Amino acid sequence: MFKACQIFVRSLTMSAAKIPEVVFVLGGPGAGKGTQCNNIVQKYGYVHLSAGDLLREERTKPNSEFGELIENHILNGTIVPVEITCSLLDRAMQNSKNPNKKFMIDGFPRNEDNLQGWTKAMTGKAEIKGVFFFDCSKEKCMERCLNRGKKGSGRSDDNEDTLRKRLDNYVTDTVPIIEHYENLGLVYKFNSMQSPKNVFLDVQEAIEKIGW
Ligand code: C5P
Ligand code: MG
Repeated sequence: MFKACQIFVRSLTMSAAKIPEVVFVLGGPGAGKGTQCNNIVQKYGYVHLSAGDLLREERTKPNSEFGELIENHILNGTIVPVEITCSLLDRAMQNSKNPNKKFMIDGFPRNEDNLQGWTKAMTGKAEIKGVFFFDCSKEKCMERCLNRGKKGSGRSDDNEDTLRKRLDNYVTDTVPIIEHYENLGLVYKFNSMQSPKNVFLDVQEAIEKIGW
């Protein structure tokens, strides 16, 4: 009985000590980040957290003090201050019921402010296992998001004006973040101009490398 208790306590301490593992998912709007994250969730049991989805959810809460600020950023294709986004991600990670503690964090870190805010708040609280980069031309991104808008995505930012700004900000703000992680040897780059099915074949190879 004593031995059984010892094993139980040890396994509790071990699971408590395990910090969450994170894969960041980056790429232009419409590059297929969400689609591939859904595939990864289904096959490997990762938890998918989309920074954009969390911000959209926060925006619609009637008593959120940040609703208007978030909507303004989304409409302009600009990036919400990291304190807001990072705390939404942190809370979602803590509230996750999934015992796996492996997260695909989609659409983050998007700029230098995101990167620094994450480093400040999350160092020691989560381990970055890799960065998945879905590489897609500006033209293809534009075409896919406009189609998504026509099919009723319901997103206020799937229009040509906002998309131009989102794509410009992606090039000036997000590409340097991808380069930063490339220098650290953390980036897995996928040709995201292919069909979703073929992109997922490449993604699976990467997941097998980083573990799941
Ligand atoms: O990733 P997604 O396309 O869903 O992001 C939509 C919008 O959400 C972005 O254009 C931006 O305004 C906001 N966002 C943000 N910070 C992030 C991710 C998304 O401000 N890290
Ligand atoms: Mg998305």
